Amino acid sequence: MPVRYQISGRGASEIAASGEAGVRAGALPPGAALPAVRSLAAEIGVANATVAAAYKGLRQRGLVETAGRNGTRVRPRPPVTSRTGRRVPAPAGTIDLSTGEPDRRLLPELGAHLSRLSTVANAPMAYAESGPWPELVEVARERFAADGVPVTRAGLTVTSGTLDAMERLLSSHTRPGDRVGVEDPAWANLIDLVAALGLEPVPIPVDDEGPTVDGLRRAIRAGVAAVVVTSRAQNPTGASVTAGRASRLRQELAAATEVLVIEDDHAAELAGEPLAPLAGPGRPWALVRSVSKPYGPDLRVALVVGDQASIARVEGRMRLGSGWVSTLLQRLVVEIWRDPAVAAAVAAAREEYVRRREALLAALGRRGVAARGATGINVWVSTVDEAAAVATLRDLGWAVAPGSLYRLASPPGLRITVGRLDMSDVERLAEAVATAVAAVPVAAVPIEALSR
Ligand SMILES: Cc1ncc(COP(=O)(O)O)c(C=O)c1O
Repeated sequence: MPVRYQISGRGASEIAASGEAGVRAGALPPGAALPAVRSLAAEIGVANATVAAAYKGLRQRGLVETAGRNGTRVRPRPPVTSRTGRRVPAPAGTIDLSTGEPDRRLLPELGAHLSRLSTVANAPMAYAESGPWPELVEVARERFAADGVPVTRAGLTVTSGTLDAMERLLSSHTRPGDRVGVEDPAWANLIDLVAALGLEPVPIPVDDEGPTVDGLRRAIRAGVAAVVVTSRAQNPTGASVTAGRASRLRQELAAATEVLVIEDDHAAELAGEPLAPLAGPGRPWALVRSVSKPYGPDLRVALVVGDQASIARVEGRMRLGSGWVSTLLQRLVVEIWRDPAVAAAVAAAREEYVRRREALLAALGRRGVAARGATGINVWVSTVDEAAAVATLRDLGWAVAPGSLYRLASPPGLRITVGRLDMSDVERLAEAVATAVAAVPVAAVPIEALSR
């Protein structure tokens, strides 16, 4: 996909603004390479240092990333929207396993709950009554307590999803230039958020039991101001923090009481494994539990529990922005949580994802393909050349996500979302993956799968 957008300008800020305009217009889509510093400088008649300063500004704002010999590229999710390039669809005729999404067919239908809401939530609400909905807070508190999370009365709030919570937590606890410990590989949105906040990610390797103890120790030594750990169904590797690992990680954290610990429990009720929280009093901490995966991403609700100061900061920031999460959405979550039929549907979805994931892992294993996916809806496949493997799979009819979206310093891989995988396709997919990871390298392809 050759990109022909002419970046122009006389000074660094004009050149940076021109680059940003290209991203906004969709002419420089995610993954697009910017010209090399020297060639752009020669082309537009400015010093190399001027272009380098412009690129640095774009990098500090999280619009572009510098990827070694691959030069400077537009980030997968730059913090400006493009009207045309929001989502690059999988090529026609391919089965799209690149998205990280749950299977829509396994999400609860909302009709009955919305009908009920039309009677129980009929009265208009004013500013004064809005904020975390008391009933939701109460039920959430019981659920957190049952999972062993040390929740207090003032330590629970509601945000518009996980990333909303993370942005408020990180921006109130850190300053641009600070370091943040991030699992490697990690959720691509988090990596992009860290870049957009001007923070420096410090990679923490992950195995099937969560972040490694050694990795966390190194990150703490590197002076991180915060660490983000995925509790279960780690995206993209499927790791789930075990009780044993949690206790070792807590020991490492014990001496670093100023480090903000954020736990991301996005699998929530979909997780089959018990939660092993790291959190505890005596430090800034927050555990974020989204409703997106079990109940539907469009609900845009996450419950955030933490120490009183961290939660108060999140609420304070919200008041200066979106204010609160609509009580209609919060009440809808209460309705959904109270319905035993929904609980049964979520339990069935959980089992179905296990079936799909295990079937794919077994089929890959039979073909000698190295893959991981202890929990959750993704499988991570090791490969030598991501671009070649993604391209080969696309030619064979499958869209998967290149590992580069999720990696900091870890070796290459592919993320395959089993969320949408039909059992009848498992063998065919495994065969295609085996062919793809054995494929000889081809010319690099641009990042095509924009995945969550
Ligand atoms: C690691 C991780 N955390 C959280 C989420 C959910 O985010 P949100 O609550 O913003 O929908 C996802 C969704 O893919 C995820 O992969």
